[in-house]
Amino acid sequence: MADRTSPKKASAATLSVWGGEEDPLVQGATQVPVVYSAAYGYPDVDAWLDVALGHRPGHMYSRNTNPTVEAFEAKVRLLEDAEAATSFATGMAAISNTLFTLLSPGDRIVSVKDTYGGTNKLFLEFLPRFGVRVELCETSDHDGIEAAIAKGCKVVYLESPTNPTLKVMDISRLAAAGRRAGAVVVADNTFATPINQNPLALGADLVVHSATKFLGGHADALGGAVCGGRELVRRVFHFREITGASLDPMAAFLLVRGMKTLALRIARQNESALAIARWLCEQPAVAAVFYPGLETHLHHEIARRQMRGYGGVLSFTLKGGFEAVKRVLPKLRLARRAANLGSVETIAGPPATTSHCECNAEERAAMGIPEGLVRYSVGIEDTNELIADLGQALGAA
Ligand SMILES: Cc1ncc(COP(=O)(O)O)c(C=O)c1O
Repeated sequence: MADRTSPKKASAATLSVWGGEEDPLVQGATQVPVVYSAAYGYPDVDAWLDVALGHRPGHMYSRNTNPTVEAFEAKVRLLEDAEAATSFATGMAAISNTLFTLLSPGDRIVSVKDTYGGTNKLFLEFLPRFGVRVELCETSDHDGIEAAIAKGCKVVYLESPTNPTLKVMDISRLAAAGRRAGAVVVADNTFATPINQNPLALGADLVVHSATKFLGGHADALGGAVCGGRELVRRVFHFREITGASLDPMAAFLLVRGMKTLALRIARQNESALAIARWLCEQPAVAAVFYPGLETHLHHEIARRQMRGYGGVLSFTLKGGFEAVKRVLPKLRLARRAANLGSVETIAGPPATTSHCECNAEERAAMGIPEGLVRYSVGIEDTNELIADLGQALGAA
């Protein structure tokens, strides 16, 4: 678990590169080494005991802490300007460990209908089995969410922008409602990234990430992170060190390396996604475009207040529905058709095979996710070439 050692001083661009990497770890190596050691040895029992009791820095066993993993945690913590951070094997491990740390039988959690599919499954399939009462509100109905929170709950769980319909939740307003109810407010910041939005600064208590996506940025490593106040993060860390969904050191190394270009990548992806969203709005084959940067987006005003950029993911529906999606997707030359997002290469796919493949058609419909939707995660390719590629593919619609 990475705790605050120095206050945030630098910009996000500089922290992406230097955060957590100020001191060479091994013999002057300029890059964070991959420490593949299950345990750490201490010939002196007193020194060993000091580390075990937390009286001096050091590591005991890599399920608990590991030097490479700590560098990753420190970088995320600095970018989110948090007191503390801990990490996980995946984003879903970060989310489930957080919820199982905070909730007990009889507790109530308030969230929204269209969170990421895996999170929705936790709400509908797993938490109720442990006696947790789950209330999922309409994502756009802030009055309704506030009312549900005011009835009393242990946790308020937010995700903004949402996956895959890019709805935006007013984090300040809902965090204030959570605070009034004495709840812990958790926000999934995977889509926005700390470059575009800092939920802790908007009032959330904990921020969770799938580092697999934009943080790592290269679609080659799975990981998750949780940042927030020292005591809350310590509890989540403790749950993970015992239950064991720890981040692998090699994945931590890849994530640290990917994050060095985070600010650069996100600036490019913000710009390209907005240009592509605007262009898609003009296309006759396209029925609707969902991107919070569009002035016509339902929640543009909230997004403008709480985000510095609108992110690299957009989605759109085609006039011919799912049949048109099946014709257009194979024509894309500059997109991987895969269940992922946030990488340097563009990735496209429908919710049925990406964000909500765990859900059936009825469940997707209940969440307001059209079957004919395409989620399009913009990479760092040339913007005009991406538009030209979409143009030739839409000819098949
Ligand atoms: C918003 C969001 N949160 C969490 C996750 C889960 O992350 P992981 O796949 O790393 O477990 C995803 C995955 O797509 C996601 O999109």
